[in-house]
Amino acid sequence: MTNQSIQIRRKSPLAVVLLAAGKGTRMQSDRPKAMHCLGGQPMIRQLLGSVETLSPDRIVVVIGPDMDDVADTVAPYVSVVQTERLGTGHAVLQARSVLKDFRGDVLVLFADTPLIMADTISGLINARIQGEGFNIAVLGFCLENPIGYGRLITDETGDLLGIIEEQDATEEQRGIKLCNSGAMVFEGNILFDLLEKISKDNAKGEYYLTDVISCARDEGKRCAVFEGSEEELHGVNSRADLARAESILQTRLRLRALSNGVTLQDPSTTWMSVDTRFGKDVTVGPNVFLGPGVDIGDRVEIRAFSHLEGVVVKADAMIGPFARLRPNAVVGERVRIGNFVEVKESEIESGAKINHLAYIGDARVGEGANIGAGTITCNYDGLSKHRTDIGANAFIGSNSALVAPVSIGDRAMVGAGSTITDDIEADALAVTRADQKTVKGGSARWRKRHSPGDD
Ligand code: UD1
Ligand code: MG
Repeated sequence: MTNQSIQIRRKSPLAVVLLAAGKGTRMQSDRPKAMHCLGGQPMIRQLLGSVETLSPDRIVVVIGPDMDDVADTVAPYVSVVQTERLGTGHAVLQARSVLKDFRGDVLVLFADTPLIMADTISGLINARIQGEGFNIAVLGFCLENPIGYGRLITDETGDLLGIIEEQDATEEQRGIKLCNSGAMVFEGNILFDLLEKISKDNAKGEYYLTDVISCARDEGKRCAVFEGSEEELHGVNSRADLARAESILQTRLRLRALSNGVTLQDPSTTWMSVDTRFGKDVTVGPNVFLGPGVDIGDRVEIRAFSHLEGVVVKADAMIGPFARLRPNAVVGERVRIGNFVEVKESEIESGAKINHLAYIGDARVGEGANIGAGTITCNYDGLSKHRTDIGANAFIGSNSALVAPVSIGDRAMVGAGSTITDDIEADALAVTRADQKTVKGGSARWRKRHSPGDD
C-alpha cells in the first residue's frame, strides 16, 4: 500500500501515545532529544502539529523523570513518566494507566521521527481497517542502506510477520531494505495485553515495542505494512540526523512559501521557521534568516543577509541588506531599515527611515522620523534598560548618542555628533558638539612644514 491522497475513514476513537522518554545518548547533549529544535520549534511540537490535524480523542506523551521542559511543551496533553528507560515496549506500557478506560484504536509514534505528516498517519490508520482488516499496521519505508533501523519481515502476500532490530538480525535479515519507522496503529485495546508478553531477551536487554508483532502473529492476529517515504520517516538519533531533518523541513517550508506566492530569490539560502508568516507579494533576498515569531506584511522586501526573529514587519517596508531585527521589534508600513541597523524591542512607526549603521533598542521612532547614520540609543546604564521616545517627523543627525531615558519631540532636530541627555521639546533644535575652530591658511602652513625636501 502506498501513500496517495488519503482521506481518513476512522470510525472508532483514536488515542495517540508519543514516546519521548529516551535519553538520546547519541545526541551528546544535556537536553532531552525531543527538545532539540527543527524549524525553530522543539521536535515534539513539530510532531504534535501533525497529530493535532487528525483530532485524536486522547494524546499521552511518555517522558523521562527529568523532563519537565518536555511536559511543559506538550501541555495541556497528559505526560506520564517512565522512571526507568527499559525500552520502547516498556515506554508504551507506561500509558496504560491513563488509557485504561479507553476503547478505540491506539497509535504509537516516536518523538524522534518528527517529520511524519498527517496524511501519512491517516494512510496508516486506513491500512489497518482496509480490506480483510488487520489488527495492527506498521509504517515502513525503504532505504538502500538501512543502517540502524529495525527491518520488517513480510511474507509473499506482504503481511508483516515480525520486526527484527539490527543488533539482533542475521546477515540475511540485515539485507532487507524495508525498515520500521516506529509508527504503529493497534486495533482496540490489544496493545497493552501484547506488551505484557514481550521479554528483554535481546542484544540490548530492552523491552522492544517491535516484538509485539511476533506476539500478535502467535495469537493469529494479522499485521499490515503501510509504506511512506524516507524524507518523512527519517529518525533523529544524532546531530547529523538532526541536520538532515532540518534540511528536509526547510525544503518543505520553502516550497510552502513559494506556493503561497512568496518570491525567494535564492530558495536554498532562505532559512525559515515553521511559524513564519508571509503576506502577499513578499520578496526575500539570498541568505535571509527568519527565526521564530516572524510576521511579514504585504509587499515587504527583505534584502540579502538580514536576520529577523520575533518581529512584525508591516506592509511595504524594506529591510536590509544586512539588517538585524530582534524580538519585539514592530516595523511599521513603508519603513526603511538599511544596512547594519539593529532594532530590538522597539516600535518604528510608519514611514520612518533608519537607513545605515544604527542601534535602536527599547524605543519608539515616530511616524516619518529620520534617524541618521551611526545613531545609537544608549538604552543600558550597566544596571537597567531605559526607553527612548522619538516623535513624529523628528530628525536625528548622524553619529548621535541618545542617552535613555530621553524623549525627543515631534519635528525636533538633533545636530550630527550630539550626545543627548535631556528631553528636547517639539520643533526644537539641539546640538551638543563642541564649536568648530577654523584657522585660516593653517592647512597650507602645515603642509609646507611637513613636505619633504622642498627647500
Ligand atoms: C527504534 C526502533 C526501530 C526503528 C527506529 C525508527 C525499537 C526497539 N526500535 O529504534 O525498529 O527502526 O526506532 O526510528 O522500537 N524511548 C522511550 N523510552 C525508552 C526508549 C526509547 O520513550 O526506554 C523513545 C525515544 O525517546 C524515541 C523512541 O522511543 O523517541 C525510539 O527510541 P530510540 O532509542 O531512538 O530507538 P531506535 O534505536 O531509533
Ligand atoms: Mg530513534
